Amino acid sequence: MIVIANWKMNKNKTEVNLFMNEFSNKLNQIETLSLNKKNILFSPSFPFLSELQSSYSDKFSFVAQNCSHHKYGAYTGEVSVDMIKSININYVMIGHSERRIYFGESSEILIKKINLCLDNDITPIVCFGESIEERKSNNHLDAIKNQLNIVPLNNQNKLILAYEPIWSIGTGLVPSVNEIKEVHSFVKSFINAPILYGGSLNNKNCDEIFNIHEVDGGLVGGASLEPDSFISIITKANEIFKNSIKDVD
Ligand code: 13P
Repeated sequence: MIVIANWKMNKNKTEVNLFMNEFSNKLNQIETLSLNKKNILFSPSFPFLSELQSSYSDKFSFVAQNCSHHKYGAYTGEVSVDMIKSININYVMIGHSERRIYFGESSEILIKKINLCLDNDITPIVCFGESIEERKSNNHLDAIKNQLNIVPLNNQNKLILAYEPIWSIGTGLVPSVNEIKEVHSFVKSFINAPILYGGSLNNKNCDEIFNIHEVDGGLVGGASLEPDSFISIITKANEIFKNSIKDVD
């Protein structure tokens, strides 16, 4: 069971520190904490990764929200996988729909990023999910299969996947249990990797979603921005993990 807080482009340094203090204190109050740093991950913006990793690496793991598809060189503003690895970060999010849509990241670019991660012993967290049009026309499974062509099947055991229907991100709309089950089972039929669910996941719906057998955790956006709301998601994940020993490795 893995739960990742994706803070996207939110929180300055003061806000990051306030969150981490409050969250860590509240986490200490959970009586039986079965989750550990393999299970609770944070994805802050680049400026804060190094400091958070140094201060909290015994408790949590950290995820870069992006990386360059180039190895190194004259690419102003880019951050290489080697730089990320050099501050002991072992996860990078790849292909989030916000990057595909707003920054035009194509499958070719995403394949390069995944390969650079794997070459540097970094686990790529590969996001995928259908648009509302693909869902409405019942083409969602084909669209997903197409998107997942970027996954190198010879390295499938070194990846984490995240199913994030585009129409569910930040909208409050969540697929039904059966719809999530359908997609996760379908993907598990051809890729052997843990699959997280993401899209309007919150402390009210996470119980039902985490209890779906094919769901191996969550990728949380908006509901990870406040310590209280994220701690209740972690508390639910902890209970389910404790009862089912549902781990990903
Ligand atoms: P929301 O939880 O805000 O819908 O965002 C989901 C997401 O994009 C996580 O990566």
